[in-house]
Amino acid sequence: MSDYLETTHDVYKEAALTPDVGLCCTTNPIWELPGLKIPKIMQEMNYGCGSTVHARDLTNNPKTLYVGVGGGMELLQFAYFNRQKGGVVGVDVVDEMLEASRKNFIEAEAQNSWFKSDFVDLKKGDAMNLPVEDNSIDVAAQNCLFNIFKADDLKKAIAEMYRVLKPHGRLVMSDPTCEQPMNDTLRNDERLRALCLSGSLPIADYVKALTDAGFGTIEIRARKPYRILDPKNYPTDELIYIESIEVAAIKDPMPADGPCIFTGKAAIYYGDEDYFDDKSGHVLLKNQPLAICDKTAGILKALNRDDIYFSESTYHYDGGGCC
Ligand SMILES: C[S@@+](CC[C@H](N)C(=O)[O-])C[C@H]1O[C@@H](n2cnc3c(N)ncnc32)[C@H](O)[C@@H]1O
Repeated sequence: MSDYLETTHDVYKEAALTPDVGLCCTTNPIWELPGLKIPKIMQEMNYGCGSTVHARDLTNNPKTLYVGVGGGMELLQFAYFNRQKGGVVGVDVVDEMLEASRKNFIEAEAQNSWFKSDFVDLKKGDAMNLPVEDNSIDVAAQNCLFNIFKADDLKKAIAEMYRVLKPHGRLVMSDPTCEQPMNDTLRNDERLRALCLSGSLPIADYVKALTDAGFGTIEIRARKPYRILDPKNYPTDELIYIESIEVAAIKDPMPADGPCIFTGKAAIYYGDEDYFDDKSGHVLLKNQPLAICDKTAGILKALNRDDIYFSESTYHYDGGGCC
């Protein structure tokens, strides 16, 4: 095992034995759903940087996999929608983290009459070698783990998720990203990397790692402020701003003309007709925004029409639109 993976293991062993409220800095409010109570210990062990769980991914009782379990909060949220024995598989490489989440599920059972610990099947395993069969998962998730991995390991971890997903299955993720270059001292600081502070990639590189693995559709669902690395407290001469994103990568076949990447752009036709049809599958109703992927935006813009407006990427894509 590389040194930084050993450091990561030790950081999360410690975080399992002694919950560390400030370890990862999510600003997502705690979920409020009828009958769902998140035990305080799970909130204290929320080591994520966003949310990966969304009701729209969870229709038809999907078989769900969650890699890097933490205190089990998101596993409980997935189980809320699934409510079946073994419906959610949780994988983690740190024994102490598996044990902590197991204990937290017992507390969750006491607080949630609908929940049984056996809804979650906890397994020891590594993100880079998942103990899960090929093509067996509908929804796979990870929160704030993949940003820790260096390039080769990230490639392996994404390939593993791709392998275990069924065709059209989806990988939902939250990770820190950073558009500024980071110096080598930061990049090579194993502890800062393990703490999800110095491994983050620019969004375009993160997305490329997913499309290189074969995911044909990418949705960037949210982009939020995450952390600051300042020269007083970190080995950097400039202030570094880190964001976190929520992304879904869908195992759709790769289109011949490249992946569909939705970053929250829309096109609005405002011409003289009731609609505009580019005869390539894109129909814009007058004055109705149509969500478009970046590829479609490029194709429509190249028409150089003066009656279509293109909005910038909002990084808040929530479904629908072209492709
Ligand atoms: C930053 S924490 C995130 C925990 C959880 N996803 C959350 O949102 O609270 C990273 C998690 O990944 C686990 N982990 C670290 N390295 C791993 C690996 N190589 N394979 C699987 N899990 C790993 C840690 O034990 C920890 O539970």
